[in-house]
Amino acid sequence: MVSRIIPVEQFDLIIFGGTGDLARRKIIPALFKRFCDGQMPDGSRTIAAARSDLDRSGFQKMAREAIVAASENELDDSQLSAFIDALDYVKVDALGEEGWQDLAAQLRPDCVRAFYFSVGPSLFGDLADRLHTYNMVDENTRIVVEKPFGRDLETAKTLNKALSQRFDEKQIYRIDHYLGKETVQNLMAVRFGNLLFEPLWNSQYVDHIQITVAEEVGTGGRGAYYDKSGAMRDMVQNHLMQLLCLTAMEPPAKFDPDAVRDEKLKVIRALGPVEPHHIVRGQYAETENTASYRDDAENPSSRTESFLALKCEVKTWRWAGTPFYLRTGKRLAARDSEIVVVFKDTPHSIFGEDAGRHHNELRIQLQPNEGITLKVTIKEPGPGGMRLLDVPLDMSFAETLGPDADTPDAYERLIMDVIRGNQTLFMRDDEVEAAWAWTDPIIQGWEARNDVPKPYDAFSEGPTDAALLMQRDGREWRNIAE
Ligand code: BG6
Repeated sequence: MVSRIIPVEQFDLIIFGGTGDLARRKIIPALFKRFCDGQMPDGSRTIAAARSDLDRSGFQKMAREAIVAASENELDDSQLSAFIDALDYVKVDALGEEGWQDLAAQLRPDCVRAFYFSVGPSLFGDLADRLHTYNMVDENTRIVVEKPFGRDLETAKTLNKALSQRFDEKQIYRIDHYLGKETVQNLMAVRFGNLLFEPLWNSQYVDHIQITVAEEVGTGGRGAYYDKSGAMRDMVQNHLMQLLCLTAMEPPAKFDPDAVRDEKLKVIRALGPVEPHHIVRGQYAETENTASYRDDAENPSSRTESFLALKCEVKTWRWAGTPFYLRTGKRLAARDSEIVVVFKDTPHSIFGEDAGRHHNELRIQLQPNEGITLKVTIKEPGPGGMRLLDVPLDMSFAETLGPDADTPDAYERLIMDVIRGNQTLFMRDDEVEAAWAWTDPIIQGWEARNDVPKPYDAFSEGPTDAALLMQRDGREWRNIAE
């Protein structure tokens, strides 16, 4: 299956923080892949703007190395050189006046102008102010901002206010890279492109929903940042919240930015408060050759959670009474992100009590090994009466769509959407604030209780209390490592 390229307009993309980790690992390699696919129109330019003492060729060398490091396949050297030639660099001081005139002089009128704020949120306001002071904002201008978008409702409001003083909401693209993942968008295709599931997608037929984003990695080199965030702020408030929204929302009337975001917002606002005994926080302990969370974070008394499981409810007509169980953590048994919709047992067994009651399960595997599995009940073949067996109807996207199926990185899709001016996969101001409004009391609750996260072994299923959270309800998590 060959990808279909929708052309975008010619653009100037300016990456503040262009020499930083995100630019090197994600943004520049994503742009290169779009370039190779022929999606970047001739004359489009990418300008990195940062504090580093670099010149154009120094940055080009850095970008070349970043692309090589991020690439799994052999690269076409002539394409790489052509892409690199179109990169530029301007030394800019976000807090001073250095470099701004030079940057302004480089920008062209009448073409899409996107400023990517790949910097900490403390600089968002200063960058926004200077873009205005130096007259760089026109009607074709967009800005892209990364998470963390605040660390609570108040800071998120302050950021929104700072940006809204300088830009219209239609110009602001708040990235949650999970929305750019092909399989996350596929969740909407499965729900709203099929008749089969939607009539059953409610509390009458669904027993519960499990959403897991498990990682094998630890905090990596980001221990200092992570220790101030923890799994709630780093993953649940944004990525898991988005997965929850797409799973629970009502069908939007059309696939357009405000229709989709209105429906997601309704889900977040309908989330009930979470009881303390429905929250399990964990922290990975030292295990054989693997350092503990506290060592990784260089904070021997840290109480930050590297694992979080919780049970919540979407209080709407559709979902009241159906629990949603969310779980995420680092140093777990495997990298495994999935949404499992567990349907209720059949109401009555016509095959007698011995055949038992059975239920269906729809599993949407987001990463790795993207695919969909529907657990169905069949007759066990052979003699011995009517014995029932649960088997998976298994569809791996790689097998079904072939090795050439294109699964672009989330950033490829999202950056092109910015250029296209399509905000569907970006978070709106009210959505981010609603997510914090739900998250804040949960965090305040455990801080007030002086909660200490439960230790768990690295590369395990997480703390045993997480299993108990489900077992108390007569349910169980799917194994992460399966
Ligand atoms: C980031 C978090 O937003 O998402 C990281 O800050 C996390 O802590 C990462 O590792 C996970 O993203 P992905 O795409 O690897 O699932």
